[in-house]
Amino acid sequence: MKIAIVGATGAVGHELLQVLERSSLRFDELQLYASPRSAGSTLPFRGQDLTVQVTPEGAIPADLILASAGGSVSKALAPAWVAGGALVIDNSSAFRYDEGVPLVIPEVNGEAALSHQGIIANPNCTTAILAVAVWPLHRAFGVRRMIVSTYQATSGAGAKGMQELEEQTRRVLNGEPAQAEVFAHPIPFNLIPHIDSFQDNGYTKEEMKVVWETRKIFGDERLQISCTAVRIPTMRAHSEAITLELERPATPEQARELLGQAPGVKVVDDPQAKRYPMPLNASGEYDVEVGRIRQSLVFEGGLDLFVSGDQLLKGAALNAVQIAEYLQQHGALKAAEPARTTVPR
Ligand code: A2P
Repeated sequence: MKIAIVGATGAVGHELLQVLERSSLRFDELQLYASPRSAGSTLPFRGQDLTVQVTPEGAIPADLILASAGGSVSKALAPAWVAGGALVIDNSSAFRYDEGVPLVIPEVNGEAALSHQGIIANPNCTTAILAVAVWPLHRAFGVRRMIVSTYQATSGAGAKGMQELEEQTRRVLNGEPAQAEVFAHPIPFNLIPHIDSFQDNGYTKEEMKVVWETRKIFGDERLQISCTAVRIPTMRAHSEAITLELERPATPEQARELLGQAPGVKVVDDPQAKRYPMPLNASGEYDVEVGRIRQSLVFEGGLDLFVSGDQLLKGAALNAVQIAEYLQQHGALKAAEPARTTVPR
């Protein structure tokens, strides 16, 4: 069982290596690929230095490819990877809305991963964090309408996003003007209500991804969602303020109890003790933090909550590896070769 990471040198690639190190996934070999810029560099994995190779134009000799090099790379190369016999878990948005491509969060719709045609899509980071927290409430109380405002970290734009925050903050503190390259405007000491391109309806593509993807993952096309996505000057972990109108009324106590037992969720909700979800605490954590759970003042029996989750982990690398683990647990992914016993001479 050979695994390849395409985009191994990027922000998500880096996390994929860390998550694989800790994963129970059984595999024999790990190959790393990136652009020609990184060819020959090495990355540590389980005490070894693995060499980064140039991503080839055609097939990759692996059973499982974890792709995280952006939509255009996936779009151009994934068909050849599949034709070469690999299963692709793709972190980009290239195939998420295609019929026959499951969009999977194991805690929500893991079984969807079992019926693929070579490509399984990993959801958008904001959607993944939202879905893990809202799914248990949707199942119990039926979400009818959902209003979301996001507070998204610069690492959502990759390693270069974090670099821009750090370098431009230094410039501003030195009294120099900040220059925006990755983001539409200077990000230090600012926030930008613009992530991805604007659509004809006035929403951005990032905001519409939350709508389209949540519906597909929950298997509920009737779900009404409105999202405002905002980039903020933090390094990692996305936060979201979520208002839910429910079909059946829920109390905050019921929600807390339900979420307390939900996989992938950690309830952090003790405002008197100043405990609530925050990106600094959620960074590096596998669970999505949920707190500030309160009765909606607008929707009778509805709820307001605040979530914070590491979007490089649950919103990307961790979810991809969890999909692979789910497949292996269900016998739907090649297992590692059993260790050969050495015969003493
Ligand atoms: P490289 O580091 O060699 O540029 P991020 O999302 O953090 O910006 O990372 C993007 C990842 O995708 C990096 O590993 C980057 O490699 C890789 N990448 C970018 N363009 C290509 C390409 N054309 N072919 C293969 N990998 C690419």
